[in-house]
Amino acid sequence: MRQSLDGRADTSNSSDIVLSVRDLEVEYRARRGLVKAVNGVSFDLHRGESITLVGESGCGKTTLGLSLVRLLAKQASIRAGQILYRRGETIVDVVELAPAKLRQFRWAECAMVFQGAQNAFNPVLRIWDQVWDTIKAHGAMDKTAARKRALELLGMVQLEPQRVIDAYPHELSGGMRQRVLIAMSLLLDAQVLILDEPTTALDVLTQRTVIDVLRRLKEQLGFAMIFITHDLAVAAELADRVATMYAGRIIEIGPVEEIFYHASHPYSLGLIRAVPTVTGAFADLASIEGSPPDLIDPPSGCKFHPRCPYATQRSKDEEPALIRIGANHFVACHNWETVRADAEAGRVRAASDGHEGGAAAAPVLKVEEPV
Ligand SMILES: Nc1ncnc2c1ncn2[C@@H]1O[C@H](COP(=O)(O)OP(=O)(O)OP(=O)(O)O)[C@@H](O)[C@H]1O
Ligand code: SF4
Ligand SMILES: [Mg+2]
Repeated sequence: MRQSLDGRADTSNSSDIVLSVRDLEVEYRARRGLVKAVNGVSFDLHRGESITLVGESGCGKTTLGLSLVRLLAKQASIRAGQILYRRGETIVDVVELAPAKLRQFRWAECAMVFQGAQNAFNPVLRIWDQVWDTIKAHGAMDKTAARKRALELLGMVQLEPQRVIDAYPHELSGGMRQRVLIAMSLLLDAQVLILDEPTTALDVLTQRTVIDVLRRLKEQLGFAMIFITHDLAVAAELADRVATMYAGRIIEIGPVEEIFYHASHPYSLGLIRAVPTVTGAFADLASIEGSPPDLIDPPSGCKFHPRCPYATQRSKDEEPALIRIGANHFVACHNWETVRADAEAGRVRAASDGHEGGAAAAPVLKVEEPV
């Protein structure tokens, strides 16, 4: 029996798991070499659950999302792993799906709103014409029934259905276009919705509307959601669980309160410290020092070690496995107990404080008093 990544029983047989990703590896062929954009990702998504995927730019969030619906760029390939999707008693591996089945899978089973898609509408086509063009190949619904459902969904995302459905994209604001996309992605009643940075580039009030709309839609329709963002404040609003990604791996995953109040990976802790208003636990607004690693030639051992204030020789030598540290909480760090203790006590370390693996080489760890 396999280990579930949320502490529950076996993944593939557990009927409330809709998507089970196992050891997924995705690479891009680039001029300089192979970019290991997703490097051994495993997680389960439960029916109706919301997982928020956070991490800084380039860590592989979009690549992971695209691989779940097999819409990767042509220079990308899935090198290993499984994406097990379940409907009723049927389980399919999306990695193995033939093109015709894959077309049915997208939209009808798993829908995705792409990063920046609200700006990618064709300006010369009305909303309905381009939505219908996109979905007609994916589901069995006839055009009249699809339009009727589209009008209902537009109402559910608080738009004026009759006006919006026949509008041209330029007649709608960015926030309205984003809500149109969310509504239309659910036209074929998908069980899983992947949203890639849907609130980025929207003003704060419009972000608020999109988040409220999503929360309400999810309650009404019961789909499961993977919400990709680099914004932890948004993650806190929508997530049941938060998964932190670094250099193509999930390095921490757990219930939202567990991640915000008991972060046990130095990188997650750094992200949280950069958003003091989310928890109120940290009065200092700190960024994570250093730059993201080169995914063509990543550091040895733990990929975070050059930036990590907790790094030890073992961190340089050995990549930590994602291990369970609580009922629903998993972390990939050799020194998570120290990190967790510091997080809970409000102590702060920075890479420049000096340690075996970080930027400076002073021998003694400096741990600041709680703020
Ligand atoms: N088409 C491509 N060809 C080569 N490398 C790519 C391609 N697309 C992405 N990458 C690389 O793969 C890695 C992961 O990129 P990805 O877009 O998945 O990150 P991300 O976490 O979504 O970043 P962001 O927050 O900026 O959207 C990066 O190093 C990126 O440069
Ligand atoms: S303590 Fe070591 S293993 Fe943990 S995140 Fe830092 S470098 Fe990685
Ligand atoms: Mg992205």
